[in-house]
Amino acid sequence: MTETAQQQIHKGLAGVVVDTTRISKVNPETNSLLYRGYPVQELAAQRSFEEVAYLLWYGELPTPEQLAELTAAERAGRALDPVVRKVVDELPTTAHPMDVCRTAASVVGARDSQTEDSSREANLAKALRLWAAMPAVVAYDQRRRRGQDAVEPREDLDYSANFLWMAFGEEAAADVVEAFKVSMILYAEHSFNASTFTARVITSTLADLHSAVTGAIGALKGPLHGGANEAVMHTFEEILAASGGEDLSVRAKSWLDDALANKRKIMGFGHRVYKHGDSRVPTMKASLDKMIEHYGRQDLAELYASLESAMGEAKNIKPNLDYPAGPTYHLMGFDTPTFTPLFVASRITGWTAHIMEQLEANSLIRPLSAYDGPDERHLS
Ligand code: CMC
Repeated sequence: MTETAQQQIHKGLAGVVVDTTRISKVNPETNSLLYRGYPVQELAAQRSFEEVAYLLWYGELPTPEQLAELTAAERAGRALDPVVRKVVDELPTTAHPMDVCRTAASVVGARDSQTEDSSREANLAKALRLWAAMPAVVAYDQRRRRGQDAVEPREDLDYSANFLWMAFGEEAAADVVEAFKVSMILYAEHSFNASTFTARVITSTLADLHSAVTGAIGALKGPLHGGANEAVMHTFEEILAASGGEDLSVRAKSWLDDALANKRKIMGFGHRVYKHGDSRVPTMKASLDKMIEHYGRQDLAELYASLESAMGEAKNIKPNLDYPAGPTYHLMGFDTPTFTPLFVASRITGWTAHIMEQLEANSLIRPLSAYDGPDERHLS
């Protein structure tokens, strides 16, 4: 009998509970997501992203004084580090923005004076600095690709308004800032997803916080994970370019039939944990609807609904967060390859909360494998 036959294999770790966490709870039965006990929908509607970052790191919402302290530190850390800028400038504009993001996180780590200090105090300070620094990297990278100069941060704007300011060089309308904030809150944390688990694996070796975040960015890049928000937009473009007449629902259905016949995965649909729909989708969809209204793009609403309904009919698989987030970022004016770096900017909060939690009760993460190769053999 082979080892594989003797041992139970948990392919993709599906259904395996590897540790406890106090940071978030995903409940597919009730279709809910709680950050430190609070429903994410309530946080998205009533709180700022800065308050949510504090909640994820400290376990409680901040008092006004604590929020003022966090906000002041975030605003003070927004400027693009000239060394990071120099490294980014050396990278070809053909490099994917996620590669730029991953490289920048690594450079920030190599330049941080506390890199080797993994105490909770140092990790909180490093997490905050990296979180504050990333929007300038993402915004600048998009601007340099467009042949535009960097835009200096504005200390009078909150995190979301300043992010949009640095990306586009103009103040965004209040409803656009609100939709962006909602996306940041919804993307911030989602228990043991692939990138967070990557961060925890790296942390379990006692490597530093920036190494863990850099690895997590690599994991997030894949289209089965964060890269799906970019991929949704490519799908929309393919449908628009496809033949099938003027009726978008007919075009979406025929594109989908063809894609499924070719065994393609439809990006922005399905989830390893949620099987009856992603708890974050209704909140993000409401923001997308506001952006469709704001920018007057009913055609996008029609395309969105057509593909969703065709996928429902064909496979009964529901959209995940990336499905409404991709077109929302498109409407705001972001270039499609910049979508996943926006996810990075948000998820830094969740990743770093998990890094600190992992260190509180660390055990090296080292699973087993069942050997399935040749029997022992010898060279002579
Ligand atoms: N398109 C086509 N078929 C799908 C899809 C999809 N998006 N999702 C699941 N299926 C099929 C799958 O092929 C399988 O079919 P069969 O039984 O015939 O082999 C069946 O549905 C069951 O799938 P599963 O094994 O329960 O799904 P999984 O847990 O292995 O995969 C997933 C989850 C997210 C990798 C997958 O749904 C997928 O590839 N989705 C597209 C990528 C995507 O949108 N990712 C974002 C995930 S959520 C937010 C984030 O993390 O960024």
